Amino acid sequence: MAKLSRLDAPLIVGAGVAGLSVALGLDRAYVISAPDAGSTWWAQGGIAAALATDDSPRAHAEDTLAVSGGLAGAAAVDALTRGGPAAIERLIEMGAEFDRNDQGELLLGREGGHQKHRVVHADGDATGAEVMRALNASLGETVTVIEGRVVDLVRTADRVAGVITAAGKQRHIYVAPAVVMATGGAGRMYSMTTNPPGVTGEGIVMACRAGARLADLEFVQFHPTALLAGKDPMPLLTEALRGEGATLVDPHGRRFMDQYHPMAELAPRDIVARAIFWQHDRGSGAYLDARSIINFHERFPTVTAHAMSVDLDPAHDLLPVSPAAHYYMGGIDADTHGRTSVDGLWAVGECASTGVHGANRLGSNSLLEGLVFGARVALNVSDHMVDPVGDLSVPKESLRLPVLPGPALEDLRKIMWDRVGLVRTGDGLWEARNAILELGPILRRTIAGRDAADLGLMMVMAALRRSESRGGHYRADYPDLDPTQEHRTLIDTGAVETVVVG
Ligand code: SIN
Repeated sequence: MAKLSRLDAPLIVGAGVAGLSVALGLDRAYVISAPDAGSTWWAQGGIAAALATDDSPRAHAEDTLAVSGGLAGAAAVDALTRGGPAAIERLIEMGAEFDRNDQGELLLGREGGHQKHRVVHADGDATGAEVMRALNASLGETVTVIEGRVVDLVRTADRVAGVITAAGKQRHIYVAPAVVMATGGAGRMYSMTTNPPGVTGEGIVMACRAGARLADLEFVQFHPTALLAGKDPMPLLTEALRGEGATLVDPHGRRFMDQYHPMAELAPRDIVARAIFWQHDRGSGAYLDARSIINFHERFPTVTAHAMSVDLDPAHDLLPVSPAAHYYMGGIDADTHGRTSVDGLWAVGECASTGVHGANRLGSNSLLEGLVFGARVALNVSDHMVDPVGDLSVPKESLRLPVLPGPALEDLRKIMWDRVGLVRTGDGLWEARNAILELGPILRRTIAGRDAADLGLMMVMAALRRSESRGGHYRADYPDLDPTQEHRTLIDTGAVETVVVG
């Protein structure tokens, strides 16, 4: 029998930048923090905001829309970019320390797809950790953090009413007047990824089981430059390095990016990532040459530590690179206030798909998304809290299955990388579908395995349906953009069968 707690304030699932931003915007909130730390702590790259005198939210919006493959929503992008400067200001008030020049002004970096210098960083390449430090330090008595692993959402007949957590065989149901998913992305659906353990899109699948509509599941962003050194997760070599003049070269030291795009190393991420993929495919290899960056060790301590751990010194050595799954544009369909298609449920940050990134995210817009949309969601939640009444129900398997995935998850991740990765084909996607179905009975022995199998299948089906190439989704059998497919992919499966629990 599951234990039941009724909470008197909104419940936020996830304690990264998005979840904590919601919590800090509410009079009172509960945050469920998972055992794995989540992606925000790892973020090297910074926060984009129109802070320079020659910049404006409109220019930031134009750059965001330009890389989005035509699918970003103008209202969402407007909200994001207009909210940028105030979001940085709030963080600074909370005590976040960003890098500054000798005059004390914020240092603004430039990254791929940005026409202006507008990216703030902390300690060179440790921005996420500083953001988390500042947000956590600001949590007062109004926010109660509960350690736990959420395995499903709890429903009444007409709304999402709470969550169920698992610790071994123990189950605990929390009922709340509003539930906000801030569970992060799905990078670990792939064997090559920069994402830390636990980031397999479980929150997205839970929302789907509770009847929420999902969107844009085919759009995965592959970061161009992860350090190819046999590590999992793969250490990120931040795009800021290319912003500071690092180049991409073949083993003979020859640059190759100018063959692919006029912006060369600063071209949009999908283009740089595929160029590196082709280099590997041709057997040429690809390296980041950052030797021209002065004071490298002081300016990029995180990258230095990663490289040194595999006996490479970025100040002297070429760094072998590969693309790696990095950010998920797909997720729970949500409007610009985080409202999903199900009453009682909001979604924010990487697990949400608001259309703010379209088919391809502009670098350094994701921490910003967590901050800006987190504040917007808090306002909306405050106005729509309802104490759930009636029978509570959950999907039956979530009451009894063990949680953690077995080794079959590694097979799934490999299938996703090989067949649902940077370069897709119809045949490869069908092979992926069949292979996932074959693995299904083994994966479905655990909750995390079941969720990964379900998400993998939905990603494959969305990728099959999009017979064109756009943003992060590239089909070698349909290499061109098809203007008739300039629309989002929406998946509505309806709630799954549940059992009454209280
Ligand atoms: C990076 O530093 O290259 C990653 C930043 C981001 O993904 O926005």
